[in-house]
Amino acid sequence: MNVLGIESSCDETSVSILSDGIITSNLISSQDFHSKYGGVVPELSSRAHLQIIVPLLRQALAKASLALKDIDLICATAGPGLIGALLVGLTFAKGLAYALNKPFVPVNHIEGHIYSGFLMEEKPKFPMLTLVVSGGHTLLLKVDSFIRITKLGETADDAAGEAFDKVAKMLGLPYPGGPAIQRLSEKCKNPTIKFPVAEISSNKFDFSFSGLKTSVLRHIQKIKSEFGSMSQKEIENIAASFQLSVVKSLHKSIQRALDQFEFNSISLVGGVAANNAIRQMIIDISSQYKKQVVIPDLEFCGDNAAMIAQRGFQLHKSGKVYSLEFNAYPSLSENYFNSISKEND
Ligand code: KG4
Ligand code: ZN
Repeated sequence: MNVLGIESSCDETSVSILSDGIITSNLISSQDFHSKYGGVVPELSSRAHLQIIVPLLRQALAKASLALKDIDLICATAGPGLIGALLVGLTFAKGLAYALNKPFVPVNHIEGHIYSGFLMEEKPKFPMLTLVVSGGHTLLLKVDSFIRITKLGETADDAAGEAFDKVAKMLGLPYPGGPAIQRLSEKCKNPTIKFPVAEISSNKFDFSFSGLKTSVLRHIQKIKSEFGSMSQKEIENIAASFQLSVVKSLHKSIQRALDQFEFNSISLVGGVAANNAIRQMIIDISSQYKKQVVIPDLEFCGDNAAMIAQRGFQLHKSGKVYSLEFNAYPSLSENYFNSISKEND
């Protein structure tokens, strides 16, 4: 069974092939040109997807030593994401499925991330406590099976990745900000600024990063007004203190979830899961609570089509059939996690 996966929800075009569950290619083309605008420009993203998608498919087939006719199932991200960008990959996948007369599976991008730990050799055991940290979402989930996901907490405002990106911008660092903040943080062994760790009264598992972001901004403004500029050491201290505050905030909700529910594994997924300090925190708390820990390799943390092919294949195996009328959707609906199990029953 050769499964083709296509991902184009934001600024990465990715094409992957899973052959009998094994990744035979996972090509990712990142649109680096957005950095000069300080963030992703949607229209430019759509155009770049359009230009690269056919050559990338050709390369992916060559890498897997397959021809188009060997593909048995076609999966593509349908949402959430930038609508124009999504439409490129989804329409392309639907066109291929129609032309090849092969089944097509639209995949939810967040579900792709949620189950991305299953791309690793050691598979997570259910029930799994999953922290999704990406540029657009921060979710704490209880994942009981391939069809049952309960949302425990989410961000009340900015996503974790968004906070990294915004703070990086304040510090004059390039987009995406996460890797740049991590690099600077690693130079400061002893962060000294006490940035806040938010507490959301309505739900003890929720997160909030906007107060933290404002607090960083005020700190930067204060230093600049007093000294005119910031030294490299100060920038490193701000980056490391901010990162520490994010780690503490994520840790707090995870600890509460582990104290309240039974889990067999802990999984960290999404683009921000590339962060070493967050990975280390997850490893430490897993060992403290004696839980299996599953964190995808870096290649599968950021947006990639292997996770989309895998999720599409799971849905296909469970008997789900989708029409070519299925359309792209930009956001995760309010009641998404209440409806996923019903939808799959
Ligand atoms: O999952 P992803 O690739 O795209 C979305 O679906 O949003 O996540 C992208 C986010 C960006 O905000 C980026 O700054 C962040 O992941 N990121 C990181 C690191 N690498 C990427 N954040 C913190 N530390 C990193 N090493
Ligand atoms: Zn993502």
